[in-house]
Amino acid sequence: MKAIKIVDGVYSLRANHWDRRLFDELIPLPDGTSYNSYLVIGDEKTALIDTVDFSKTKEFLDLLRELKEKMNLSIDYVIANHAEQDHSGSIPDVLEMFPQAKVVTNAKCKEFLMDLLHIPEDKFVVISEGDKLDLGGKTLEFIMTPWVHWPETMTTYLIEDKIAFTCDFFGSHRATSHLFPCDEAKVLEDAKRYYAEIMMPFRVNIRSNLKKLEAKEIRFIAPSHGPVYNRPEVIMEAYKSWVSDEVIPKVIIAYTSMHGSTEEVVRYLVDRFTENNLVVIPFNLTVEDIGKLAMELVDASTLIFASPYVLAGLHPNVVYAIYLINALRPKVKYVGLVSSYGWGGMGVNQFKEMWKLKTEILEPILIKGLPRKEDYEKLENLVDQVLKRNLPLMSALTV
Ligand code: FEO
Repeated sequence: MKAIKIVDGVYSLRANHWDRRLFDELIPLPDGTSYNSYLVIGDEKTALIDTVDFSKTKEFLDLLRELKEKMNLSIDYVIANHAEQDHSGSIPDVLEMFPQAKVVTNAKCKEFLMDLLHIPEDKFVVISEGDKLDLGGKTLEFIMTPWVHWPETMTTYLIEDKIAFTCDFFGSHRATSHLFPCDEAKVLEDAKRYYAEIMMPFRVNIRSNLKKLEAKEIRFIAPSHGPVYNRPEVIMEAYKSWVSDEVIPKVIIAYTSMHGSTEEVVRYLVDRFTENNLVVIPFNLTVEDIGKLAMELVDASTLIFASPYVLAGLHPNVVYAIYLINALRPKVKYVGLVSSYGWGGMGVNQFKEMWKLKTEILEPILIKGLPRKEDYEKLENLVDQVLKRNLPLMSALTV
């Protein structure tokens, strides 16, 4: 772990977690992740913005110790933009190494940090919207950006250098040795996945946070996961499109098949949508990474579940996907269900009870075993319904 200069007096202290494969025991991390802390050195005071995950505390403290020895580093303030432990986990150890340091954060984040890490109350300096902290030639301004993705989240803006330290906001799960994106398209994909998995339920809140940040001149966005953005407009524009109400004509089929009947349904639907030039993505819930499904749902217009039955209900993979998608709240507009049963099927009612999103529910289809002629007719009707609803969106894309 090394201190990498962004501009004079501002350093990235990034702890890469190259081989972490799961976050929150839930979210797949195909490319690992990083926990980014930043050092801002003013003429009079020094601030550390966020820290790193518990698992990287030793590396982090080793670096701070090295900086203490080499450049006489002293930390006066630890800015906590977010209380979650992947960024706050090392704060108690930093306070031990720099006993004079105060934790600067908002009132809600202070409460969380006292509960999560037992940091004593007298260690805090509480700030609110628009407050400024003068470090001597470097001024930090605090901008409340709640619900990205916890209620206490905030952004710290370094006025002189025009750097927004946004913590999870705009982040991406990727371990990388590059300070800035070396492949912007790839980083946008990572950021979209991250948005889908963590931020998507809060897209309306994020819209107002984006507006707040747009009012600032920003040269760099320095999030707490993934690379620093040296072209901030790229990620901000991407976020604007993700949080908008616009969807694109795209059908996601989330399915599991046990003995091939559901797979046949999926094959038929994929072929029919493809023949009609409607983008379709079949997503086998048994083998695929659920983060990829979330990412595809960021802008998809249509979602179809296809499920066999286990006992008399939908397959647990599909039940889990419904539960998760309810929680992620994508802006999908149309949802359908095709289910194939052997000896008993209560799945349609089960689905209607479980599904919580405000979407149009297309007529569910229940098939006994392998589809017969009359089932293909029902599937054809589903295809027609989906096409009819997506046609205006498809026409809008045609020049
Ligand atoms: Fe990266 Fe919400 O913590």
